[in-house]
Amino acid sequence: MPTPPRADLVVHGGIVVNADGARPATVIVRAGRVVGLADPDLPPPSHKRTLDAHGQLVIPGGVDPHCHIGQRLGNYQGLDDYETASIAALCGGTTTIIDFAIPPAGRSPLDEVRSRRQLAEISRCDTALHGCVTAWDDTTADQIAVMAAEGVRTIKMFTTYRDVVMAGPDTVLEVMRSLRANSGLAYIHAEANHLIEDAQTQAAATAHSDARHLPQTRPELAEAAAVAQVLAIAEHVGAPVYFVHQTTPASIDLIRAARRRGVRAYTETCPHYLALDDGRYQGEHPERYVCCPPLRSASTVSSLHARVLAGEVDTLGSDHCCFSTAQKTEHSHDVTEMPNGMPGVETRLPVAYTQLVVRDGLPIERFVALFATNPARLNGLSGKGAIAVGNDADLVVLDPHSTRTVATQDLHMATDYSPYEGLVLTGWPSAVVSGGRVVWDADGFHDPGAIGRTLHADPLPEHLLT
Ligand code: URP
Ligand code: ZN
Ligand code: ZN
Repeated sequence: MPTPPRADLVVHGGIVVNADGARPATVIVRAGRVVGLADPDLPPPSHKRTLDAHGQLVIPGGVDPHCHIGQRLGNYQGLDDYETASIAALCGGTTTIIDFAIPPAGRSPLDEVRSRRQLAEISRCDTALHGCVTAWDDTTADQIAVMAAEGVRTIKMFTTYRDVVMAGPDTVLEVMRSLRANSGLAYIHAEANHLIEDAQTQAAATAHSDARHLPQTRPELAEAAAVAQVLAIAEHVGAPVYFVHQTTPASIDLIRAARRRGVRAYTETCPHYLALDDGRYQGEHPERYVCCPPLRSASTVSSLHARVLAGEVDTLGSDHCCFSTAQKTEHSHDVTEMPNGMPGVETRLPVAYTQLVVRDGLPIERFVALFATNPARLNGLSGKGAIAVGNDADLVVLDPHSTRTVATQDLHMATDYSPYEGLVLTGWPSAVVSGGRVVWDADGFHDPGAIGRTLHADPLPEHLLT
């Protein structure tokens, strides 16, 4: 029998976990891909490098479906770029990041996609993009078709942020119809703008516009109202729809009910909505926790956990936004002027693992589905999200028993704070393999250089998730 060619890497001794099951196996890697999953009792083929995963889990590299990298929204621009964001992602066990091409005034969605792709050339990990449409015009259908041909098949629309990025329901409808024709998926930020603006006006009338009062200015009702309106459009058009950063049981229940009627509707939540509650707005540095939707009450957070455990949430996105404390503080007296969003691409894994697996007892296979497999499927990223022969060798080795305390100085994100500072978390990677290269281990980060590939989304199948 011919000797198989030498492997570049074997990861042995661990439990390999995919969304559909877990088993002890040796992962054999060659030329950036998984080429074998071998019986752990058999000797591995000859190889250049070994990772010892005894006592640990080996899960697919994370796919973060929701990152804002150096994004300008309103008056502020995030402080990172594709180099720093991708390094932080890799150190935290995420090997694919999906950013948004949100066109500034005067630039077309297609031009913004092309220019973001140039920015991504310095990425250390693989990247993909969501397009973004704010207003329908007679060029938009063609632009969506060209974006799809160029591998961008997800389009974000915001139902809020008037005069910045808000898209009206007529635009949402036309974009969904076009996406349906191009085997794509609408990504929706769902908060009903009229309710938010009214709540903001009322808050201003009582001098309650500062960061401590953020939740009153973005009520839970606003989320459910926008979800209901967009679901009706999706049902009418027969198009699939994905709701980003869902925080409330009411909106998740609407999405699930629509799914039972046959609407292809999907739900994302974020680690911060599971780990933090609105008490943060009464403590030190309330501005650091300003994000949209806001952190919710403890009882809403506990209902959100219940929805995740019941299998009613499909993905975990970080909604990573890298603003500094100085940027957050500048207008903290007026939430309508502040930069929204929190840093999180690096902490998505340990925060969510601690909340869902350690605290709630979510089976690890289901965690893998939320963290990697479903985001890969819903974004048409073949070769990602599962440890399988032929797939990219994107792997995370993690010790399910070891803990680490969050300290901003240990993290790699381009900001001076973490919303999780001081929390003791489980699920930190002990090793990360990206495209077959060990980029994180006990010695720290090993920079592979700007080797991240631009991923092209496949046409999305009729049924995205079973
Ligand atoms: O507060 C947030 N989430 N900022 C980022 C932009 C968005 O709405 O997703
Ligand atoms: Zn959003
Ligand atoms: Zn976002």
